[in-house]
Amino acid sequence: MILVLNGPNLSQLGARDPAVYGSATLDEVVAGAREEHPELDVFTSESEGELITRLHAARTDGTRAVVVNPGALTHYSYALRDALELLDVPKVEVHLSQTPAREEFRRTSVVSPVVDVTITGAGAYGYRLAVRAALHLADAR
Ligand code: DQA
Repeated sequence: MILVLNGPNLSQLGARDPAVYGSATLDEVVAGAREEHPELDVFTSESEGELITRLHAARTDGTRAVVVNPGALTHYSYALRDALELLDVPKVEVHLSQTPAREEFRRTSVVSPVVDVTITGAGAYGYRLAVRAALHLADAR
């Protein structure tokens, strides 16, 4: 199973700033990713603590790899970063938007140093790429 983790405000995709994030809803984004691999366990939360608790569970529930879009937590959550670090499976960070080209605060990811791959700027298609990368890395282990 590949765990797909979505952080704060990603539940609002479709309505949220479509010029930046696209017009697809999160369900539509996930449906596209499932075409790459049907066995996705999708967990979406507005809460940092719930995301961290889900990552802890992933240490023992057979999760083979993680795809994570932490939303704005990307830029400041050392707690989420630490939870990712202690999970010993391949990890792929994905962002719909091209974060390095946006506001200054979005140019830093505190998560990137503890993941294997970062994909930015490919919109919904980035989730497909992320699932493919996660599978590739999990198979290579
Ligand atoms: C995002 C980029 C973040 O800066 C932002 O806070 C989000 C979405 C993206 O997918 O482009 O919530 O992670």
